[in-house]
Amino acid sequence: MSALIVVNFKTYESAQGESAVSLAKAMAEVDASTDATLVAVVSAFDLSSVCAAAPKLKVWCQHLDPIGWGSNTGWLHPETAISRGASGTIINHAEHKVEHSHVEKLIDQLPEGFPICACAADVEEAHSLAALSPTFIAVEPPELIGGDISVTTADPEIVSGTAAAVKASNPDVRVLCGAGVKNGEDVAMALELGTEGVLLASGVTKAQNPLAVLRDLVSKI
Ligand code: G3P
Repeated sequence: MSALIVVNFKTYESAQGESAVSLAKAMAEVDASTDATLVAVVSAFDLSSVCAAAPKLKVWCQHLDPIGWGSNTGWLHPETAISRGASGTIINHAEHKVEHSHVEKLIDQLPEGFPICACAADVEEAHSLAALSPTFIAVEPPELIGGDISVTTADPEIVSGTAAAVKASNPDVRVLCGAGVKNGEDVAMALELGTEGVLLASGVTKAQNPLAVLRDLVSKI
């Protein structure tokens, strides 16, 4: 399986609307030039435009709700997201926590093979989410999110510990790590610590030259 570089656009102004489209195009360019797989995690508002502009790039949602058609004001309906081009989702991000029952119901509702990445704050939460069999678990210590030090440097034990705990409990689940990841060395270290890739945001969305950062992120894989 190729290493995964998942870029969360969050609500960074530099990664919404037309800027989301430009960033996704840069990601598609790098994706086409590497063995790694790049994934753009975009605002629901930008799903259609990003998918149309970068049809070969994997585009995920930042959150989905386990609801059906009908009276569900403001919720994010999985089938609608899929019809707009979503090919995966993250869930339970540190900035959008949900009950684990939400994750469980969502996994039940999503079509077979639709990737879902459940975020975990620590080894314990990762271990408990692994029992639900998401496609991926991304461990991200909340206090390191948006910071300058990569989790792979600040807390390598949480990365290797999560990889070991998840693999011991459910070997089918693929592990990612995130928080403060900025460059190719951080990605290489994440892989060395037992993960299959990274989830990052500000290293790309706040970069002066996102294309150069994206190229660097995949340079040591
Ligand atoms: O979803 C990715 C994330 O929370 C990490 O953010 O800015 O530390 O790369 P950042």
